[in-house]
Amino acid sequence: MESTATVWSDPRFAQRGVTATAGGVTATAVGMTFAFNPAEFRVPAGTPVTFRLTSADVTHGFQIVGTNANTMVVPGYVSQFTTTFATPGEYLIVCNEYCGTGHHLMFAKLIVEGAP
Ligand code: CUA
Repeated sequence: MESTATVWSDPRFAQRGVTATAGGVTATAVGMTFAFNPAEFRVPAGTPVTFRLTSADVTHGFQIVGTNANTMVVPGYVSQFTTTFATPGEYLIVCNEYCGTGHHLMFAKLIVEGAP
């Protein structure tokens, strides 16, 4: 199991946020009590989005409300999945694993942008 310090120096998480990758975009984030870093993602509709997640401390969840995107975020492991959002709009991302006293405050925002 990796310590908190190695999460922040791990090259897979050095660049957090949304970056363009082959065939789509990758959204990289670290969960920690009681926030996601970053707390906002902006991705294009109709494009494969790969989420790459880990935790800096305890087990968290990452559920994109109103979609079937949902994974645990576990310290020492990388959780990764790819999905495509057909519908532009704002989506709430919540932690759905109880992680401590601030669990209910742990959320992020996903903005899916349509064609300009
Ligand atoms: Cu993080 Cu609940």
